[in-house]
Amino acid sequence: MTKVNAFAALAPGRDLVPWSYDLQQLQPGEVLVRVLACGICHSDVHMIDNDWGIARYPLVPGHEIVGEVVELAPGVTHLSVGMRVGIGWQRSACGHCEDCLSGNDNLCDQNQGVITHGYGGFASHVAVDSRYCFPLPPALPTEAAGPLLCGGITVYSALRAAGMGSGLRIGIIGVGGLGHMAIQFASRLGNHVTAFTTTEAKAREAADLGAHEAILVREGQPVQRPARPLHIILNTAPVPTPVEPYLDLLRSDGVLCYVGAPTAPLSVPLWPLLVKRRRIMGSPIGSRATIFEMLDNAALFGVLPKVETFPMAKVNEALARVRNNSVRYRAVLLA
Ligand SMILES: NC(=O)c1ccc[n+]([C@@H]2O[C@H](COP(=O)([O-])OP(=O)(O)OC[C@H]3O[C@@H](n4cnc5c(N)ncnc54)[C@H](OP(=O)(O)O)[C@@H]3O)[C@@H](O)[C@H]2O)c1
Ligand SMILES: [Zn+2]
Ligand SMILES: [Zn+2]
Repeated sequence: MTKVNAFAALAPGRDLVPWSYDLQQLQPGEVLVRVLACGICHSDVHMIDNDWGIARYPLVPGHEIVGEVVELAPGVTHLSVGMRVGIGWQRSACGHCEDCLSGNDNLCDQNQGVITHGYGGFASHVAVDSRYCFPLPPALPTEAAGPLLCGGITVYSALRAAGMGSGLRIGIIGVGGLGHMAIQFASRLGNHVTAFTTTEAKAREAADLGAHEAILVREGQPVQRPARPLHIILNTAPVPTPVEPYLDLLRSDGVLCYVGAPTAPLSVPLWPLLVKRRRIMGSPIGSRATIFEMLDNAALFGVLPKVETFPMAKVNEALARVRNNSVRYRAVLLA
């Protein structure tokens, strides 16, 4: 039995408080990881606030985890004690449905989340299905690798599913945790990137991340057109944004892809889709196969989350910074 010291929300919207639980014996296939660092994704904020109506309290957030393997259930042979691993949103899948068998285990109906079906990484330890523990390339530092496991894979997988190769013009809405990694992936892989941001300073800084063009979006005002129409626009905003102004910025056959997860329904006019054969899609996290590919590409092309670190005990301070959108660009808690 392991006593896990964690930080938990005891009710919706509350500050986190120290809270501990006893972890009984590992289930078959599971692995116990000692947390070294954990990013704060805006999905943690949605879950703390119960925006999606699926939170269970006490809620231990944290699903951008870097840790060290400390114990393996009998029969787990592909990991070893002491190995440095990353864990993201997903903690397991059924492994035998049509989605799982076609390599889309992130779309599995039995998909379980680290913080929706268990306790997360704002803690000393976490236990998950060993198939969802990913050995980390040495090039990725412990403080900065965690955000790749949720934010990074989400934007990488969505951009790939929306058709990202190279030589395309790609727009990214929101230069936050997800957006700043999307800009890096899209530009490092050889695309022309336009960042759409509501923050004046980020419009100036976007070039440092690899953006070729930055457009400042002011509420209630028309969105300025990029130099040329875009093949793909990825929307990472955690709040509702109007659809039509962005559809109009897409070229024929262009795709508007949502990864940001507000709950309000989209209001979509048909005509801008119909006359230019445009599409709208959404995308959740990424499959195991895509996570391996993304980690390799992050190491190969030097895609690295830019992080601000906080001691785990300062979790509420860090969450307040995420809520007021002042983090550059991802907050990471260090154990
Ligand atoms: N689909 C998935 O599987 C998946 C996975 C992970 C996260 N998500 C979702 O993706 C969204 C973004 O997550 P994140 O971690 O990137 O969030 P974040 O770090 O807080 O960044 C969000 C960015 O959106 C922009 N924004 C525009 N209006 C905003 C407002 N009123 N309040 C806050 N931000 C605003 C800001 O960029 P500017 O300052 O540049 O305007 C902000 O930095 C969340 O809804 C999260 O739940 C989805
Ligand atoms: Zn399945
Ligand atoms: Zn996340």
